[in-house]
Amino acid sequence: MHVFKRIAILQDFLETKRKQKCTIGFVPTMGALHEGHLALMRRAKSENDILVVSIFVNPIQFNNPDDLLRYPRTIENDSKLLETVLCDAVFVPSVEEIYPVPETTIYNFGAIEQVMEGAFRKGHFNGVAIVVRKLFEIVKPNKAYFGEKDFQQRAIIQKMVENYAIPTEIISCEIVREPDGLAMSSRNMRLNETERTIAPQIFKTLKKAVLKKQELSPELMREYVEKQFKKIDAFNVEYVEIADEKHLQPIKTWHETKHARIFVALQLGNVRLIDNIRIF
Ligand code: PAF
Repeated sequence: MHVFKRIAILQDFLETKRKQKCTIGFVPTMGALHEGHLALMRRAKSENDILVVSIFVNPIQFNNPDDLLRYPRTIENDSKLLETVLCDAVFVPSVEEIYPVPETTIYNFGAIEQVMEGAFRKGHFNGVAIVVRKLFEIVKPNKAYFGEKDFQQRAIIQKMVENYAIPTEIISCEIVREPDGLAMSSRNMRLNETERTIAPQIFKTLKKAVLKKQELSPELMREYVEKQFKKIDAFNVEYVEIADEKHLQPIKTWHETKHARIFVALQLGNVRLIDNIRIF
């Protein structure tokens, strides 16, 4: 596996590969890799000639400075895991390499970024869009892979690719879960033992709620989920939304959409967890 810290050297390597007619599958990450990332990478490797991964903890997408400080950094273990999925090239730039001058770009993705994560983490998606667009310009991948745990992020990146005619196909991959249902996340490693035993209640509650679709309206389902979470003292609910999968706007009736999901964000101790499930 080749390790690159500088943009120019990575670009030389990728240019040579492109001349050899290799297709590039790309998985951008912030490191602290887990099975969820590895699933994206295995798929990228199987659908392209080479797999490129980036590891960059992007400071401008953190609206909370403590969250940035506490974000897990496990580069040695990450390198070992990358070898297991036969990663061809990993890009681990410094902050100065990515942002030689302060970033001033402001994106406007409309209603899709006003809700849920966008409402609770001001500036988060602007920071994500800036870094992902920059990484796409550097790597020029044929396909880029994103997990559905960050469903809204994937939708915004899809919109960015369409708005700016970026020739990269966005591949959406299902959430990978622990055997007890907890959605895999780099943040899970910051849960203490007690919190880790409580966390699977998130997915259990979502699954129970989906089974109530015939008896509950979207608003009553939202209330049901919120009520279940509030029974657990350790949870501090940020939002529960029942939304249309395409536009991510809350729905009032089931007829409004072809596909709806429950989206949740909550704090458990000082760890922020998100999850979602398809209702239909
Ligand atoms: O999902 C993530 O890990 C990050 O938001 C991403 C897409 C790598 C951008 O920093």
